Amino acid sequence: MKEKADALWKEFLDKLEEVYDREALENLRIAFLGKKGFLAGLMAELRQVSPEEKKTAGMVINTLKENVQEKLKDKTEELAAALYDRQVGEARVYEESLLIGHRGGSYHPVTLIQRTCEEIFRSMGFTIEDYPEIVDDFHCFQALNIPEFHPARDMQDTYYLSTGQLLKTHTSAAQNSIMRKYGSPLRAVFPGRCFRNEAIDASHENTFFQMEGMMIDKDISISNLIYFMKTMLSEIFGRAVTVRLRPGFFPFVEPGFELDIQCLICGGAGCSSCKHSGWLELCPCGMIHPTVLAYGGIDPEENSGFAFGLGLTRLAMMKYGVRDIRIFNSCNLKALSQFVNH
Ligand code: PHE
Repeated sequence: MKEKADALWKEFLDKLEEVYDREALENLRIAFLGKKGFLAGLMAELRQVSPEEKKTAGMVINTLKENVQEKLKDKTEELAAALYDRQVGEARVYEESLLIGHRGGSYHPVTLIQRTCEEIFRSMGFTIEDYPEIVDDFHCFQALNIPEFHPARDMQDTYYLSTGQLLKTHTSAAQNSIMRKYGSPLRAVFPGRCFRNEAIDASHENTFFQMEGMMIDKDISISNLIYFMKTMLSEIFGRAVTVRLRPGFFPFVEPGFELDIQCLICGGAGCSSCKHSGWLELCPCGMIHPTVLAYGGIDPEENSGFAFGLGLTRLAMMKYGVRDIRIFNSCNLKALSQFVNH
């Protein structure tokens, strides 16, 4: 019996060596420990053994069974660990394959410009505010001195929801809430996505980005406005830019201006981006209308301030030399992933 048991043990170990998966291991278990397996065969033989030898023979079989069970258990754990390593490895390879071609990723050019502007204004003591895209008529128009039926609304037709709310046509829609939040003095910029009913072409989009800025305190004047605008633009472009102020009408500022910069794409010679004028309207601005200050809970007798509405999308076109505004909302990764901040 001892020899038979030893031979079986050796056979078992040899077969175990060749096991690489759970199925093979289960087959080996059945072959040795199953109802019709080798050990069951040995047990059957035990019946023919003489009573004197039965005890030792029984012990031999038992020891063999225990050893086989232990080895099977070890092998099960070993296989599970190997499987785990393999799966983790495969997952890593998969992740790496996803990264190839997307290494580093890239930001949307408008995001890059927005962050640059935020940093510049933050360094000048402005807070950065967030504001919803869905607003109400009061905030988008009435609080900005644009009552119902005012002709200034024609330029800002937008998308209305069945609730009467609308998609904001300009970041100025946040002015009232920010005045109420901080009172005077305040310095804040608030970037945001804006929506208008537009005929889309190379320089008009129905969805675009602006960054509004407000500074309110005692004795704020147009010189402060011009200083902040010039500082910001030369920071953004990393060179002196030629600007001009023209009178502009917006019901929520008085006086109001259009700040133009000389077209950086054609250098002022005229191209399709600047409608062949050499100049680009970049930043409407002005001194906040007393009525608007009063709506915001700020005493216009004591305080004054300026506001501007920087066209972030336009600015991105200028900075990166993008000739067609439609690229920004195109989801065309080839076009959109080539911009970096410098
Ligand atoms: N909200 C105006 C627009 O989008 C721009 C603007 C902002 C004008 C602030 C003056 C002051 O047309």
